[in-house]
Amino acid sequence: MRIRVRAPKRLSGTVQVPGDKSISHRAALFGAIASGRTEITGYLEGEDCLNTLTAVRALGALVTRKGPGHYLVDGAGLSGLREPDQVIDCGNSGTTARLLMGVLAGQPFWTFLTGDDSLRRRPMKRVVEPLTRMGATVVGREDGSRLPLGVRGARPLRAIAHDSPVASAQVKTALLLAGLWADGPVTVTEPVRSRDHTERMLRGFGARLSVDGTTVTLTPGAELRGPCVAVPGDISSAAFLLVAGTIARGAEIAVTGVGVNPTRAGLLDALEWMGAPVGRSHAALAAGEPVADLTTRSATLRCAVVGAPMIPRLIDEVPILAVAACMAQGRTRITDAAELRVKESDRIRSIAAALGKLGARITEAHDGLDIEGGARLRGATVQSGGDHRIAMALCVAGLVAEGETIVEDTECIGTSYPGFVETVNALADAPCVEELP
Ligand code: S3P
Repeated sequence: MRIRVRAPKRLSGTVQVPGDKSISHRAALFGAIASGRTEITGYLEGEDCLNTLTAVRALGALVTRKGPGHYLVDGAGLSGLREPDQVIDCGNSGTTARLLMGVLAGQPFWTFLTGDDSLRRRPMKRVVEPLTRMGATVVGREDGSRLPLGVRGARPLRAIAHDSPVASAQVKTALLLAGLWADGPVTVTEPVRSRDHTERMLRGFGARLSVDGTTVTLTPGAELRGPCVAVPGDISSAAFLLVAGTIARGAEIAVTGVGVNPTRAGLLDALEWMGAPVGRSHAALAAGEPVADLTTRSATLRCAVVGAPMIPRLIDEVPILAVAACMAQGRTRITDAAELRVKESDRIRSIAAALGKLGARITEAHDGLDIEGGARLRGATVQSGGDHRIAMALCVAGLVAEGETIVEDTECIGTSYPGFVETVNALADAPCVEELP
């Protein structure tokens, strides 16, 4: 599938975004190992999170769909999961694969995991190595570092203190989950704190967890009990609309009910530094997560320097931040973001190549991007490389480019943001984003 984009005359209105991807995965997975029933509303029905539901079903949890985004997960408890009779396909979802590995490390049976072309290229050693040290057995390609992988757990696992070389919530979560079956406290220290949805939600499920700076410790022994989880709107999806609503002409938009967890909301800070009039209102707390309505309108942006420790707070938003930087005055530098090279695509390369084709003055650095703002973007045919966040960032670039932009390979948008095209069109004065076969 391809998407044709033209610049709208106006972009205005109030919209919602689908549920948060990270929180949805966790609600399904934690529900599956909890005792009793977890009720989830606002669950993201994108392919990644649907893959997590399929996986927990295969492992013995009972999942019932009550309506759009509304699920009941009857958990198997900490000792009730069973050996799946099929290979579990995690699709495009690194979160499904890595978080599951943490759970599987504590299960006394074999489970085999695979994924799509992109996921089979992504590094798994970062979870496999510490899980193996805890006592799990992992076999697979490249000495157990790429999917397909087979995991056989052990019980109890050995308690470890792990110093993660990367700030990764997936690594942190995998180890904390494995810690539920360990013979003592499991500690993870990160160079910079990554998103803390796991810490918040596991506590809500009754786990014993303490946080000290960038170190998190899980002490096993507590049974998990699922509360009701109301998943907030995904700030990573809202990011595309907020940048569009800032760089497009005649724009004024609001996105309601968005999760604004400070470990995730780096894009809002970056946009504010750049001069975007981002407003927050109706602050509330849902499922232990701060939520707010967000507004913005057309503004002239200035450049910014974005590096560690901000990067983990906006790691998934770098492609769309790069689009904002193309429209800003001056030179924006994004550094300390080498992790982008091992996401669904090499996002440094893919966004630099595609925005360059639209006329942006953007160059790759080994760990980031240099973007000379103020370029006039001109419509062209550009590739998403099968990466949902690149596809949507390019659609937003198309909204401010002259003429017509064709974004190729856009089915991937459904992994995280079903309804993206419809929402952009709902904000526009006339349909400006069109799906082509
Ligand atoms: C995620 C963590 C991040 C992020 C991904 C979702 C999560 O990955 O990029 O989209 O839900 O824990 P890393 O942990 O690899 O940085």
